[in-house]
Amino acid sequence: MKKIEIIETAFRDAHQSLLATRMRTRDMLPIAEEMDKVGFFSLEVWGGATFDACIRYLNEDPWERLVELKDIIRKTPLQMLLRGQNLVGYKHYPDDVVRKFVEKSYENGIDVFRIFDALNDIRNMEFSIKVAKEQGAHVQATISYTISPFHTIEKYVEFAKKLEALECDSLTIKDMAGLISPHDTYELIKTLKEETDLMINLHCHCTSGMTPMSYYAACEAGVDLLDTAISPLSWGTSQPPTESVVAALMGTPYETGLDLKLLTRIKKYFEKIREKYSSLIDPITERVDTDVLIYQIPGGMLSNLVSQLKEQNAMDKYQEVLEEMPRVREELGYPPLVTPTSQIVGIQAVMNVLGGERYKNVTKEVKEYIKGYYGRPPAPINQEIAKKIIGNEKIIECRPADLLEPELEKFQREGKKLGIIKKEEDVLTYALYPAVAPKFLRGEAEEEPLNPPTKTVCQEKPAGLPTEYSVDVDGEIFDVKVLPVGYMEIEATGSRVPIGPVEGGVTSTMQGMILKLKVKKGDTVKQGDVVVVLEAMKMENDIHANQSGTVAEVFTEEGDTVNAGDTLMIIK
Ligand code: CO
Repeated sequence: MKKIEIIETAFRDAHQSLLATRMRTRDMLPIAEEMDKVGFFSLEVWGGATFDACIRYLNEDPWERLVELKDIIRKTPLQMLLRGQNLVGYKHYPDDVVRKFVEKSYENGIDVFRIFDALNDIRNMEFSIKVAKEQGAHVQATISYTISPFHTIEKYVEFAKKLEALECDSLTIKDMAGLISPHDTYELIKTLKEETDLMINLHCHCTSGMTPMSYYAACEAGVDLLDTAISPLSWGTSQPPTESVVAALMGTPYETGLDLKLLTRIKKYFEKIREKYSSLIDPITERVDTDVLIYQIPGGMLSNLVSQLKEQNAMDKYQEVLEEMPRVREELGYPPLVTPTSQIVGIQAVMNVLGGERYKNVTKEVKEYIKGYYGRPPAPINQEIAKKIIGNEKIIECRPADLLEPELEKFQREGKKLGIIKKEEDVLTYALYPAVAPKFLRGEAEEEPLNPPTKTVCQEKPAGLPTEYSVDVDGEIFDVKVLPVGYMEIEATGSRVPIGPVEGGVTSTMQGMILKLKVKKGDTVKQGDVVVVLEAMKMENDIHANQSGTVAEVFTEEGDTVNAGDTLMIIK
């Protein structure tokens, strides 16, 4: 009898998909011992967006989370999601950083490395696979699954064989948006089982509603592993419920052997956790959304898109952005939509819609993508659009990371100078997130509140920035923004009532963080010069001088968070 084994995602993908990756370590530890008793193939606990969320929002050390979990979870292997050469960041890192990161992850408790590349470019995966194998870890290579005229079973099998040749132990079909149909699941897994000796895992999100059927088809085709999430953190943009999958397979040739009673006790705990984090759950991410079958938006991305559009005050453009997404994807050569390509395509679609003209504004990431710095796209890029964006600039042919100089020593040196390195892992945290890490490592970061207050003064800006208040008038919330030079803007339930413009004011185009301030008071600038680099939706966006002149006033500092429409500086 074939036994199916289960990978539980509650501590990583499930809360990344439904709770904006905000689950705290202190909410994981009390149930960890019980989870260890179940007999899962592994517990996915780390990687993906958890690293970023820990230092950016939770004031938690991700390395400490791993050690604390490992302390309690003694039997069940711990698993992480690694974005190949991108590790747990959004760009390629040089090999010395990749090596150290994989070594330290293993040393601190990771047993199973699930390694993927957004473009299925094996050149972006082979180094981290090699280092993980050297440690003696289980390496689970990954197919980032997508649908396009260029993605055929033959191509996927060819890719799987290359991964097998790298001595990977198992292979995951990573279906970020639940796009795989039961029939295609059966055909793909059957062929992979025939053509390779790899253990096969299916990882799907439930967005489209087809996933439970596809899981059963996977069992019939001979799948070895399935990813599920304990029921309070399942469905929607997350995985199918663990208990339901276990129950559905009971008494069939695909028995999991897991104890439903124990799982139900664990479920009770997570019901309370879900309640605690309920303010983070967006109804859109919870329900079945068959739009995904047309627009291909993966789980994590949908909730991101909704919150970004809300922050930009542009939820009315939701449908338009959804429709723009597949166009951009096709023009960029059908990349599977997963970090970082999901953000690259997603933000470009947002910019194409909000900007009023397609590709009028492009991010640095889109430029680099077109120039080959992310790897080889699965299909040719639309040449007209490529020309509009990069002109005659050269496209690289080599493995992107071959162009990167080692940088571990540099971060070590700089980090020591800043006095932020207390342990070896801190160098990695700094190297991965140079903009956010120093504040965290200095101990100056604060945990974001779980239920932010919504009444009266709710947001205080750092000194120097225009001040913003939310004022409750007879139950109606007004956002009142006091801008410099006597300019005031009142915003009530979405409608903006500008009282007067700031002459020469350079405003932020979207909500984000000031990554680089390229000018200071007194500098001379030309119209079109990049004056600020804004990090929004994890991408870098250039903000240009709207006229030539002298910088009369600067209201922001690097590291400040700004909203769409905030005046950043005045050029006279
Ligand atoms: Co996932």
